[in-house]
Amino acid sequence: MPNRRVYSPTRRDLLKGGAALWTLSCLPNGVMAADDGPLTIEAREGTAELWEEGGPKADIWGYEGRVPGPVIWVRQGETLPVRFVNRLKQPSTIHWHGIRLDNAYDGVAGLTQEAVEPGQSFDYRIKAPDAGTFWYHPHNRSWEQLARGLYGVLIVEEAGAKAYDRELLFVFDDWRLNEERQIDEASFGNLHDWSHAGRLGNVLTTNGLPYFKERARPGERLRVRVVNTANARVLSFRFSRLKPQVIALDGQPVAPYELEADTLVIAPSQRADLIVDVPSNPGVFKVEEVSGAPFSAGEIVAEGAAITRDKPLPGDISLSPNPLNRSLSFDDALAVDLLMQGGAMGGLREASLNGETKDLRSLAQEGKVWAFNGIVGSHHDQALFSVARGRTIRMPIINDTSFPHAMHIHGHHFKVLSRNGVKPAREIWHDTVLTEPGEKVEVAFVADNPGKWMIHCHMLEHQAAGMTARFEVA
Ligand code: C2O
Ligand code: CU
Repeated sequence: MPNRRVYSPTRRDLLKGGAALWTLSCLPNGVMAADDGPLTIEAREGTAELWEEGGPKADIWGYEGRVPGPVIWVRQGETLPVRFVNRLKQPSTIHWHGIRLDNAYDGVAGLTQEAVEPGQSFDYRIKAPDAGTFWYHPHNRSWEQLARGLYGVLIVEEAGAKAYDRELLFVFDDWRLNEERQIDEASFGNLHDWSHAGRLGNVLTTNGLPYFKERARPGERLRVRVVNTANARVLSFRFSRLKPQVIALDGQPVAPYELEADTLVIAPSQRADLIVDVPSNPGVFKVEEVSGAPFSAGEIVAEGAAITRDKPLPGDISLSPNPLNRSLSFDDALAVDLLMQGGAMGGLREASLNGETKDLRSLAQEGKVWAFNGIVGSHHDQALFSVARGRTIRMPIINDTSFPHAMHIHGHHFKVLSRNGVKPAREIWHDTVLTEPGEKVEVAFVADNPGKWMIHCHMLEHQAAGMTARFEVA
């Protein structure tokens, strides 16, 4: 396997300035919701230049045959009909990550719908109550289908004046390519990955390319939407000298704050919306990935004349709140403990799989190495909890493993109450929260969306190997 992110500075310098490099437009492949008839999205095979722009083409699976798939725009509160057509060789679905939609369209194979067979289609109706940055991906063999490139971004646009000049979208992915610069298929299902940190890659792409260059005008105010679509890698981006301010996390607005050390840590499936004020002098601003040895993911180049505006931008960069039920009621809350267990170097000795208690060795033989509360999860188990609509759920999530996990809850956003007993500095509503080994993260939400929903780790190999459950809101 080639080294992780092998793009040496030398090689990158060679690329610098080539005219063909300016192809990364903002918001690539945008699709506006059509007013007439459904938007059709086909999952099919395609190719992408993941290794090097203009270089070898890797075979991928993508929505419309592209990575990322089309950016879908929809206005807040509007309903978008989407016809999903499966042209793959495998059954698939589309899950609309982070959208608090009607359960029937949540796209979970075996729970909210049957998987769509090759050649078949399924009609979704996406009604998005919240404005913000969301994304879509399959919920059937996610660990394979996302690793092959099936994902796209869904932007729900808020009404009203914008406090920025322009938007950029950075969809980051972590690919595992082999010596032939193809997706490494041989390691799909690898038990070592499944029992450790998940499928980590060796090439980072931004909007499907190994290096990005974005041109901006000096003084321009950008809204940068960041999405981590990696199977398992927690990414850390350092925006040196750009002083980004966070205005939303997982699609939900936050009171604007400056990134600590200019660094954004973003777990698989999480999104962040940033405001970047491009300095008023021309210059090159590298964006580095610093979770391991730092390397450049790309750069924002400020050049040309400073931006001029007919009228000044609104001074307040904060976004209007979404219609999320924030009235947590702790007096009659349902307490649900979630103990995350298993994996390599974990303390789990045995767990129940399909109602049978098994030791770790026999579980591993079935590719199952993780559990919630002693149960190796699947759709078929009893629900983790069932609750009447409108009740508050208070959930301490305890990471009793040796690995970080990105816990995701479907159909709802939850508030982080505390981390290891310490209240966070600001109010944050996530759909996915990162928990470190040994950490206890307490979250709460109002279970106000009826249906059968999943709760799982978004390290997709962990999910597949047992870190998953469902709950019901009646
Ligand atoms: Cu992004 Cu259950 O998924
Ligand atoms: Cu996990």
